[in-house]
Amino acid sequence: MDDLKAKYLGQIAEAGDESTLEAIRVAAVGKKGEVALKMRELGKMTPEERQVAGPALNALKDEINSALSAKKAALADAALDERLRTEWLDVTLPTRARRQGSIHPVSQATEELTAIFAELGFSVAEGPRIETDWHNFDALNIPGHHPARAEMDTFYMHRAEGDNRPPHVLRTHTSPVQIRSMELQGAPIRVICPGGVYRADYDQTHTPMFHQVEGLAIDKDISMANLKWVLEEFVKAFFEVDDVELRFRASHFPFTEPSAEVDIRCSWDNGQLKIGEGDDWMEILGSGMVHPKVIAAGGIDPEVYQGFAFGIGIDRLAMLKYGIPDLRAFFDSDLRWLRHYGFAALDMPNLHGGLSR
Ligand code: PHE
Repeated sequence: MDDLKAKYLGQIAEAGDESTLEAIRVAAVGKKGEVALKMRELGKMTPEERQVAGPALNALKDEINSALSAKKAALADAALDERLRTEWLDVTLPTRARRQGSIHPVSQATEELTAIFAELGFSVAEGPRIETDWHNFDALNIPGHHPARAEMDTFYMHRAEGDNRPPHVLRTHTSPVQIRSMELQGAPIRVICPGGVYRADYDQTHTPMFHQVEGLAIDKDISMANLKWVLEEFVKAFFEVDDVELRFRASHFPFTEPSAEVDIRCSWDNGQLKIGEGDDWMEILGSGMVHPKVIAAGGIDPEVYQGFAFGIGIDRLAMLKYGIPDLRAFFDSDLRWLRHYGFAALDMPNLHGGLSR
C-alpha cells in the first residue's frame, strides 16, 4: 500500500496538464483502478486482516483524491497566471486620436436630391451597372448603327469565344432604368434612379465613372411644362437659392422628343467655381418628352400614356454647390481632400432641417 501511495502521489506531482491528471485518476481510483482491485481482495482476507486493510485502503483512496484535486487547482491557477502574463495590457497608455470617416460629396448630393424629389412625389428605382445592350441602347431608340453608340464611348464587357450575342455594357447613362421601371411597374410612374455610369472619357469635368440621376414621370396628362417646373423647383431647392439662372437649350436625344439640355450660369475665376454669377454655363442635365417608341419598349401604350424624363449629372451638381473645381479629385481617394470636402456622418439631409448644414 505504501508502494501504491508513493507511485501515485509521485505521478500526480509530476503531471503537467489536466488530461495526464485524469489518466492517473482512472488508473488509481477509477472503478477498475488499482485501489479498486485491492478493495476486491478484502473478501479473501481474515476478519482481523480486513479490519486493518479496509480503513487503510479507504484512507489511501481519500489521500489520492485530495492530491488530485489540489493538483488540478494548481494547474488551473498556473494557466490563469500564464494568460494574465501574456494578455497584459497597459491601461495607462494614452488612447489613439479618434478618426472618423466623412460622407463623400457625391453621397451627400445624392441624399440631398433624393430628399427633394421625395417631396415632389418621386420614389427611388435602381438598375444594374452591367447592363444589357438592349436596355442601354435598343430599347432607348438607339439602334446598332446609331452614331450615339460611338459618341457614348462605351465600355463593353468581355464576351466568351463563340458567343455571338451582343456583349453586355457598363451602362453609359441611367436611362436604361427608365425601361426597367416601366417593365416592373407599368404606368403611371414617378421615379428617380441615382447611380454610377461609365464612359471612356477623362478631363477636368469628365471621369470614366461618374454619377447620374434619372427622372421619369409617366401618366395620361404630362407635358413639357411639368418637366420645366419640376427641374426649376429641384434646382432652387438643391442650391438653396431662388435666383439660379437656368438655360434651356433645344437639343437632341434618340429617346426624347422634343429634347432640351439645361445649363446653369457660373464662373470659373482663378480656378474658383461659383454658381449664379459670371459668363460661363455648365451643362448639368439632358431632358425631354419620352419618345413613344421608348414607352412602347417599356411595355406601356404610347397612345394612352406620355411622360418626361431627365438625366442629371450628380457630380457636376456637387462641384457647383460645394465649389469643387476638378471632377477628377472626386475619385482620387485622397484623405486630405475627403476631410476637407466631406460631410459629417450624422447630418442626414432633409428639407425641413436644411439640406447641408
Ligand atoms: N441619358 C442622357 C445622357 O446621359 C440624359 C437624358 C436622360 C436625356 C433622359 C434625356 C432624357 O446624356
